[in-house]
Amino acid sequence: MSTYVNDDRETPRFQVNRAAMVDPEVFALERDKIFNHTWLYIGHETELKKKNDYKTRSVAGRPLIFARDAKGEVKVWINSCPHRGAMLCREDKGNARFLTCFYHGWSFSTAGEMVSMPGDESYGENFERPGLAAPAMVDSYRGFVFISFDPDIVDLSTYLAGAKEYLDLVCDQSEVGMEVLEGTHEYSVKANWKLLVENSIDGYHAVSTHQRYFEMVLAARGKLDPKALGDSRGIDLGNGHAVVAGAPATEGLFGRPLSEAGAAEREARFEHFAEIYGPGWVDRMKGNRNLIIFPNLVIVDLVMGVVVRKIDPITPDYMEVTAWELAPPEEGDELRKQRLDNFLTFWGPGGLASPDDVEALETCQVGFGSSRELVWSDMSRGMNKSVCNTTDELQMRTWWRRWNELVTGEQLPSEPKSPLDATFTAPRQDRASMASPTS
Ligand code: FES
Ligand SMILES: [Fe+2]
Repeated sequence: MSTYVNDDRETPRFQVNRAAMVDPEVFALERDKIFNHTWLYIGHETELKKKNDYKTRSVAGRPLIFARDAKGEVKVWINSCPHRGAMLCREDKGNARFLTCFYHGWSFSTAGEMVSMPGDESYGENFERPGLAAPAMVDSYRGFVFISFDPDIVDLSTYLAGAKEYLDLVCDQSEVGMEVLEGTHEYSVKANWKLLVENSIDGYHAVSTHQRYFEMVLAARGKLDPKALGDSRGIDLGNGHAVVAGAPATEGLFGRPLSEAGAAEREARFEHFAEIYGPGWVDRMKGNRNLIIFPNLVIVDLVMGVVVRKIDPITPDYMEVTAWELAPPEEGDELRKQRLDNFLTFWGPGGLASPDDVEALETCQVGFGSSRELVWSDMSRGMNKSVCNTTDELQMRTWWRRWNELVTGEQLPSEPKSPLDATFTAPRQDRASMASPTS
């Protein structure tokens, strides 16, 4: 049995050792074995609208510059001057043709080349003028930009495995490309970062933790039959990625109901998409999904809004969270207004749900003060079933097995489950393949 995970197939039972949530040695191992060797999300291409736009970001403890250069290409630089270390960009965001270090004045282009250094003649001709340092790898999938500090890592597409399909279900909601909206949620939680990973894909907690939110929804709708929210599945997507996917809700959207005009626009948009992608794929789009891309990127698409959430471990008992809203730019004003209203009512530091989750996670961390006496947390729900849904914990076990593999080297087989039915597997069709040969 691994030190941190008890994956007992016989009982069956799955437990996680709480030492993994408090031990500084585990934290150091995670930095090394996980964050130095996976693809990590840095930002979305649409956050950099113009040439020479930049944002500063922190990924795995590294200060970074996420930028578009003068040619319009997305670049990622280490936000530290090659001279003696000062941060080159000290603002959250900006637009600059040159990144000039305020300490001694070395200056670089957004393409990373040195442009000038004061007193250049004191270095001699043979002195190599350094450019900006960069992470080993930068790549993107449909606008989502990832970096890796491991030059030997598999390519991003291979790494994303089954998660790509769920990114497609999000990205296909716009014909011109989904965009990150202005404004960012930034908050912190006094808890281990893995607790928020678990929470982000945990359907089991929703009704009890977010009681107040559901009371509000109920009041707005008059009725809400939980069964009418539709069928759901917890799915292992490979490489530690997992999703809880919901079929389209027969009661309409999760959250407050749309106005008539908003609902009509939404319906028209999906009808149009059905012509492009086929009805099976669009039914899946109309459902919801909580996706975890290993290790720390969460995408929650509850249809009323798409949250992109990046979870940053800072210490074993403290994390920082950044979240953005992704939306189709061509959406009408009415629908956009209601999307944002639903989004802000549920998520973020001022939402009705996120603070509940923060409270739950922080009390877990307090509880872990007795991790020597009460060693194991339980994550066994649905292990005895051949089909798992959103209130089971298959998705968390999937993530933890990958965590365990990277941290301890011990490989645990995935759980055998029944094949998924068409509601959860219908592929996207292109126009050509949809045209019948006889018509
Ligand atoms: S540290 Fe940047 S110019 Fe000296
Ligand atoms: Fe929650």
